[in-house]
Amino acid sequence: MIPMVDLKRQFNDIKEEIFTVITEVLESSQYILGPKVMELEKKIALYHGISEALGVASGTDALHLSVEALGIGEGDEVITTPFTFFATAEAIMYTGATPVFVDIEPDTMNIDPVEIEKKITKKTKAIIPVHIFGHPADMEKITRIARKHDLRIIEDCAQSFGAEIDGKKTGSFGDTGCFSFYPSKNLGAFGDGGMILLNDGSVAEAIRKLRNHGSKGQYRHESVGFNSRLDEIQAGVLLVKLRRIDQYNELRRKKASLYNQLLSGRVELPVERPGCRHVYHQYTIRSSGRDQIQKVLHDKGVSSVVYYPVPVHLQEAVAFLGYRKGDLPVAEEASEKVLSLPVYPELEEASIREIAEIINNA
Ligand SMILES: Cc1ncc(COP(=O)(O)O)c(C=O)c1O
Repeated sequence: MIPMVDLKRQFNDIKEEIFTVITEVLESSQYILGPKVMELEKKIALYHGISEALGVASGTDALHLSVEALGIGEGDEVITTPFTFFATAEAIMYTGATPVFVDIEPDTMNIDPVEIEKKITKKTKAIIPVHIFGHPADMEKITRIARKHDLRIIEDCAQSFGAEIDGKKTGSFGDTGCFSFYPSKNLGAFGDGGMILLNDGSVAEAIRKLRNHGSKGQYRHESVGFNSRLDEIQAGVLLVKLRRIDQYNELRRKKASLYNQLLSGRVELPVERPGCRHVYHQYTIRSSGRDQIQKVLHDKGVSSVVYYPVPVHLQEAVAFLGYRKGDLPVAEEASEKVLSLPVYPELEEASIREIAEIINNA
């Protein structure tokens, strides 16, 4: 049996350090937004060359609080990609704003800048690009469009911790960069967690209040906020893994490179644009024989997942927005062809060879 991720294996490799850090937290009796969270915020900000980092309860909250803190809400439109996890669109809708979906680039499957400009209206306030599967969206073009139309950029970096464009990390291009520490992410906690990166001190202040019940001082509430705080145990775990994140990502890249070599010419491979550093949160192939490949893999004990079988604009939950099949054909075709294969730092070379052989024979 080859799983999609092997979190137990990773835990076993770092068990001693994890137990030490968790014991430290338990003995400190400071469990929420304490010194470990502050240390993590500092280190992640530094890693990205950004001045502020704020720990929150999840990646979804990182996006939601960003939209909220940038003053976006009822009557506003936010442009995003339909080829993402549903949370990206949910975060927009929580604030009362309307998500506007534009089609994706055929090669990277990231939001297509050319399509963004066509959908800008007087109501558009922001763009949320998602660095899908760990490959950076085209931030140079997206930033140019945002400047021209005075729009904010909220980067969804849930899948792209450590990804780069010309040496600059995703999460450092937009007004905010939003990260998820969901356990299976490249940098994953042992529970939920998230982080917002930003350079604007006043927006950071707004998010600091929003994540803690609109509170400025103890029991002084300036606005109605949320309970969205990162806890100390998760921050401690993340500090241990942060020390290894470059090594983890490099290993993912090596696995991807071996897959590329073995699957070349048989299925459509993930691309890496010149200047970009893909961190392969997912290794995603495309094939019109996708369902058959997945069945054969399953029969031979290999896990694989379709991220995502239904693009967001065609989800039942957003039927009220009025999109129809055919509206965003590139994203729709991707949903019919994509298949993500096991990829994680500890994945054995022999397993990759076995998986490639099954696919090539399918
Ligand atoms: C692209 C994307 N955006 C947002 C999220 C939401 O993150 P979380 O699960 O931490 O709320 C996820 C992950 O699950 C994701 O993959």
